[in-house]
Amino acid sequence: MLARGLVKRYKEVLAVDHVDLEVRAGDVYGFLGPNGAGKTTTLRMALGLITPSEGTVELFGADPMRAGAAALHGVAGFVEAPRFYPYLSGRKNLELLAALDGDDARDRIDEVLDTVELAPRAKHRVGGYSHGMRQRLGIAAALLRRPRLLILDEPATGLDPAGMRDMRLLIRRLAQDGITVLLSSHQLPEVQELCDRVAIVNRGRIVYEGGLSDLRAQAGRGYGLRTDDDTRARQIASGLSDLEVGVDPHGALRVHGPEAAIGRLSVALGQAGVAILSLTPELATLEDLFFRLTEESA
Ligand SMILES: Nc1ncnc2c1ncn2[C@@H]1O[C@H](COP(=O)(O)OP(=O)(O)OP(=O)(O)O)[C@@H](O)[C@H]1O
Ligand SMILES: [Mg+2]
Repeated sequence: MLARGLVKRYKEVLAVDHVDLEVRAGDVYGFLGPNGAGKTTTLRMALGLITPSEGTVELFGADPMRAGAAALHGVAGFVEAPRFYPYLSGRKNLELLAALDGDDARDRIDEVLDTVELAPRAKHRVGGYSHGMRQRLGIAAALLRRPRLLILDEPATGLDPAGMRDMRLLIRRLAQDGITVLLSSHQLPEVQELCDRVAIVNRGRIVYEGGLSDLRAQAGRGYGLRTDDDTRARQIASGLSDLEVGVDPHGALRVHGPEAAIGRLSVALGQAGVAILSLTPELATLEDLFFRLTEESA
């Protein structure tokens, strides 16, 4: 999926402001941003559900706005929450969708119910399903279409911890089966675990797009430092160039800078007779970076 210069305006609201995204085959792509940032609106455009005010979307080379339904071949998913007839069973709902999807979708119902672990409840009315079961039925419905690209808008939001874990395992399994996944999420640890590439959107604009590891590397390395004389260590560290020194909320020293500067610090501490008890590299978590990128630009 390739989005170029996507814009969506609702009267005076600029919901999506020149968004570029590149989801490559095989990606588990994370789409992050605070409430109201424009994630769902972007995914709606990617699924061809609404027309962009400006810009283009390409799905496997075709534009859903120009090529229509044909461009959506191989693409499935849902935004916000999947919808079903509550008074019909899970299976019946899938049968109705399969009739629209055609091909062999109907023969795949048992298989997709198994994949999302709903087979034992398939005969029950959807109205009696829990939130997590409905999300899983939504994924089952998408899988009927044999998607190559699966677009999921916050599939794990509102699930309990076990439900979130199961959703994570399910997404990973689908990715291993070769399905490309574009996933919007507020669960940063989930994204950190599942995704290789991410986009972070804030107020309709992309503030980061690319590899998760590049993002974490770009944030630079911080180190936790424990010594037998932190006051003196702090004075020494603040006298060195290329090094930032601070204190974390627990009162422990944190230094930030390139490796060479950290090396100079350890030598200087030794020369001053300050013992290093530990010097531990800490990679920024996605959560740190998320707040930095979304609150900085606010
Ligand atoms: N149909 C619409 N009419 C008017 N404004 C809309 C419409 N859809 C979205 N918006 C506005 O566009 C902005 C982005 O909304 P969107 O739902 O895309 O955010 P989001 O990133 O999905 O947020 P959340 O994390 O809360 O789901 C919001 O200001 C929202 O009010
Ligand atoms: Mg949303």
